[in-house]
Amino acid sequence: MRYKRGIAIVATLALLSSALVLFSACTSGVSQSEFDEVRLQLATTEKQLADVQQRLSKEQVEKLINEAADKKLNTVDTKLALWGVQPGTAPRMIEIAHYFNNMWFAAEKGNWTFAEFEVYRTDETVKNIKLVRPKRATEMDKWMKEAVEPLRAAVKAKDLPRFVAAYDKAIEGCNACHKDSEGGDISLKGVKVTRPTTPIFSNLDYKGID
Ligand code: HEC
Repeated sequence: MRYKRGIAIVATLALLSSALVLFSACTSGVSQSEFDEVRLQLATTEKQLADVQQRLSKEQVEKLINEAADKKLNTVDTKLALWGVQPGTAPRMIEIAHYFNNMWFAAEKGNWTFAEFEVYRTDETVKNIKLVRPKRATEMDKWMKEAVEPLRAAVKAKDLPRFVAAYDKAIEGCNACHKDSEGGDISLKGVKVTRPTTPIFSNLDYKGID
């Protein structure tokens, strides 16, 4: 079905463009030789199409169409609606701010599984930022390696003083990046991250489930 549609679309487009050339040739008073040349072009296009149909099997055409579609869908192109509606950096940063809030109160209560989950979520969110905003990748990777990985290690070791030190270092990293960054041409110096004082969710028991 897709194969037939693919061939039909290619054929229609090729014929239409040749017909257009032929039409403009007819209406603009061209010489006989120019007219013949356009007719020849049209015949050549038809022959080329017939050749393609003969040379490629249905499976080959299907494979070509699928490969082209996969490439289109897996390459960031913000002109495409699908990519254009993906959240950029700022909405993801709000997520990270949530994770860092939860992580703090979970660690304080010795709820290391929740703290670890929030480190994991931070990692996943950073992966998404890197995918949709490749220009942020180097800076994000640096922060992950230098600040978030030591935090993950402290959480896994269930070591609160080590966690607090790593946490402070991680938010220093948030602010270092904000100091030198812009969002929509606006400086991010205004976005200063600190240790949290209040849990973001009043409907979570940070001790977790027994
Ligand atoms: C490697 C750079 C970098 C790091 C690290 C970073 N940010 Fe950001 N942050 C940005 C950029 C860039 C923006 C603006 C993005 C935009 O305009 O789409 C931003 C924006 C924000 C915003 C404003 C979002 C909004 O829509 O109002 C918050 C809140 C925020 N970051 C929190 C944090 C927190 C919390 C951390 C650390 C736990 C952090 N950021 C670490 C680069 C960074």
